[in-house]
Amino acid sequence: MNIIVKQDYIQMSKCAAEHIAELIKKKPNCVIGFATGGTPIGTYRELIRMHKEGLDFSGVTAFNLDEYYGLGIDLTKPYSQDQSYTRFMYEELFKHINIKKENIHIPDGTTKNPEQFCKEYEEAIKEAGGIDLQLLGIGGDGHWAFNEPGSPLDSRTRIEKLSEQTLEDNYEAFYKGAGFTREQMPKYAITMGIGTILDVRSILMIANGYKKARVVAEALEGPITNQITASAIQMYKGEATVILDEEAASMLGRLKRSDSVS
Ligand code: PGA
Repeated sequence: MNIIVKQDYIQMSKCAAEHIAELIKKKPNCVIGFATGGTPIGTYRELIRMHKEGLDFSGVTAFNLDEYYGLGIDLTKPYSQDQSYTRFMYEELFKHINIKKENIHIPDGTTKNPEQFCKEYEEAIKEAGGIDLQLLGIGGDGHWAFNEPGSPLDSRTRIEKLSEQTLEDNYEAFYKGAGFTREQMPKYAITMGIGTILDVRSILMIANGYKKARVVAEALEGPITNQITASAIQMYKGEATVILDEEAASMLGRLKRSDSVS
């Protein structure tokens, strides 16, 4: 595992975007797994800037990690009122770059048959030749995608119930400003499993801010446990790069000391 610590969020984002751009230049028809959330927004802004300077996404295939169950993109609504991750990807990245629409895959939160859909999503990843690089954040509860605490580390794409902490974290990020109530939030999501993620050819995990410092240390240096599903990075056999800002890296190497103090 290669851990890179950058000074701040902007530097972390630039470094992550460069890592992704390198792959696209080396393999123009690569398959990239994208992520949603606050963390990758800076990376996407940087990729958009690079696209304006010539970075070509026309051969790239995208597979997103997850989508709220019950939500689908609705372009008749303003962005602030459309909380689907499909809309997020469209607004934050896809509409600004030349990726082909038919090469974009995001779990369909409106499917009437989620079990069948999840099987087909796994098949589509295989048919595309597997994912070359998966971008990942880490949730406050240690999740990768929506693999909440307790998710099996060999899980595949499926419907998952969101943890109380995720509901709280995402309520802050997405709902409060738009005036939604907590009750209106979807309680389930379709998510790639940890097993699905461990099959990819390379992982790029990013995290920033003090609020992520402890969970980052637990995932990278604590025991491998399905209570912190991102700790699966320690079982990962491919090439894993972790880019952190100084705040998110601030608990690395300190878990034991702080545990014994508390
Ligand atoms: P965040 O979410 O980027 O909004 O902190 C990360 C995640 O849930 O994976």
